[in-house]
Amino acid sequence: MCGIIGYIGEENASERIIYGLSRLEYRGYDSAGIAIIDNCKLIRFRSKGRLENLKKKLEHESLKGTIGIGHTRWATHGKPSEENAHPHMDCTGKITIIHNGIIENYFELKEELKKHHHKFASETDTEIFAHLIEENIGKGFEKAVFSALKQIRGTYGMVILYSGEPDKIIAARQGSPLVIGVGKGENYIASDVPSFLKYTRKAMFLEDGDAAVITKTDVQIYNGGKKVTRQARDIKWTSEQAEKSGFPHFMIKEISEEAQAFEDTIIGRIEGSSVKLENVDDKKLKKIKNIRIIACGTSYHAAYTAKYLMEKYAGINTSVDVASEIRYGDPVIDKSTLLITVSQSGETIDTIEAFKNIQKRAGYSIAIVNVVGSTLSRMLDSVIYTHAGPEIGVAATKTFISQLAVLYLLSLHLGSIHGKINDKKMKSSLSSLRKIPGLLKIMLKDKSKVKKIAEKYSKQRDFLYYGRNINFPMALEGALKLKEISYIHAEGYAAGEMKHGPIALVDDKTPNVFLAPENALYEKIISNIQEIKARSGTIIAITNRSNKTMKRFADDIIYMPDIDEDFYPLLAAIPLQLLAYYIGVKKGIDVDKPRNLAKSVTVE
Ligand code: F6R
Repeated sequence: MCGIIGYIGEENASERIIYGLSRLEYRGYDSAGIAIIDNCKLIRFRSKGRLENLKKKLEHESLKGTIGIGHTRWATHGKPSEENAHPHMDCTGKITIIHNGIIENYFELKEELKKHHHKFASETDTEIFAHLIEENIGKGFEKAVFSALKQIRGTYGMVILYSGEPDKIIAARQGSPLVIGVGKGENYIASDVPSFLKYTRKAMFLEDGDAAVITKTDVQIYNGGKKVTRQARDIKWTSEQAEKSGFPHFMIKEISEEAQAFEDTIIGRIEGSSVKLENVDDKKLKKIKNIRIIACGTSYHAAYTAKYLMEKYAGINTSVDVASEIRYGDPVIDKSTLLITVSQSGETIDTIEAFKNIQKRAGYSIAIVNVVGSTLSRMLDSVIYTHAGPEIGVAATKTFISQLAVLYLLSLHLGSIHGKINDKKMKSSLSSLRKIPGLLKIMLKDKSKVKKIAEKYSKQRDFLYYGRNINFPMALEGALKLKEISYIHAEGYAAGEMKHGPIALVDDKTPNVFLAPENALYEKIISNIQEIKARSGTIIAITNRSNKTMKRFADDIIYMPDIDEDFYPLLAAIPLQLLAYYIGVKKGIDVDKPRNLAKSVTVE
């Protein structure tokens, strides 16, 4: 998500840190900040917007300290602003912290700290950590950090300074990457290698549960109370490769981050057997009788998946509209309607304008958005953020899975509020959702099968994608991704529609990709597959691992781990995206910036 850099050595820390932050700009951010210890005094500068703004603030300062930390923030809790920018401080102004990730139990801890007279200057979850350290700083810097770490739940890559002990930086990692750059008489700590690659190529990657005490000549790492060693590796990447963490493209890097993006999006939103959605008004949700979801492109496909979920779990009539259509239509909307917009950027002009035209007639509105502070996040009654972090590849990948994460949670929550989902079903559904990050990791571990299939079919001119029920929107999304990334013509269909037209296209050249896990409609999808086989068509099937029958019908099979049938779309997203990616790469296409496409569509 955000960018982290810390420096301790003999050189001017602010110069090293500003340089480091400039190497992290590609990640996207909305504010930046720096803190230096100079003569045992902590000095901090922050600004909203580009790094240039921060640099201007520093122009007339002569910062001499040789220890410091810096951060570029991509907002998750609290709008992009100077107050919410990192580093954050405790009440004494001696402890300061930068943090990537989400402290899940920050709200409870903040309330507790307020009782002990702590005053907070930001809306962030991060700030509470500085105050937790302050509570125990009398025991020494290390002990205070270690005891604060025991109190938090969630994901973090954090780096802390204390002006009372100005000879060390402490860092801790849980779920959010941190890497130490090992230099001669100086050390770095960063979220990504490019920030220090100019100065050292020796990198020591921290693992989950690690806490590191870093001085200019030494690094001590602890995990679970014990000292551990982490090997320093020589980085052979070029600067550009390093920005992609060694991956050849942002798209594959971002696909590889999907387990984390999903986890970060559900984290803190499941409590026992219920869903907890911040900012959402349950009283208003209870009153709604119908739902309309508005979105474009991939976000529309996430929304379409939610139609099946909301009708199944909550029994509420749900329609999904392409924003550019509803914008000029005359939809029936009244005070019993819940309007939902789904958008990665929060800036898509069709979605914004469509919403503007109908918002007054609706009872309640919720934006599902990835970019904090974006136009849509400010326009609707409530906002639920997808915590996918910045997405640099033009094609939506990790943000799609995060949108689905929110939509599954919201559907289950509506089911519970409307008394349509019993406790047993709720528990089992939430348990399936919790399993998804682990299953995504399994799917991402070995990409070779999809790569082989992609290479086999990369010369085809057309593809057809089919699915039924909740897997139908995935057929649409699979086809969209292929079009965008490989420039191959592809269409997605509801498999039941096959006989109403697309069957005329069956020949021995066009691959037919079927989303075919063993579910209630499996036999029906097998009938569709057989009809294609009977006409010498080619089948690529995406099904569940324990399926024993698919071998008889499909030319190529991609397996997903077994899970409750409602949750297969979450797993199927990976092979669909990988198929498009590997075909695009094989064809030599610039998959991160496909022709004619823009990341944010702000003109009609
Ligand atoms: C597809 C893609 C686009 C976007 C669409 C909506 O890979 O990225 O189809 O999904 O332009 O954008 P947002 O979600 O920003 O409203």
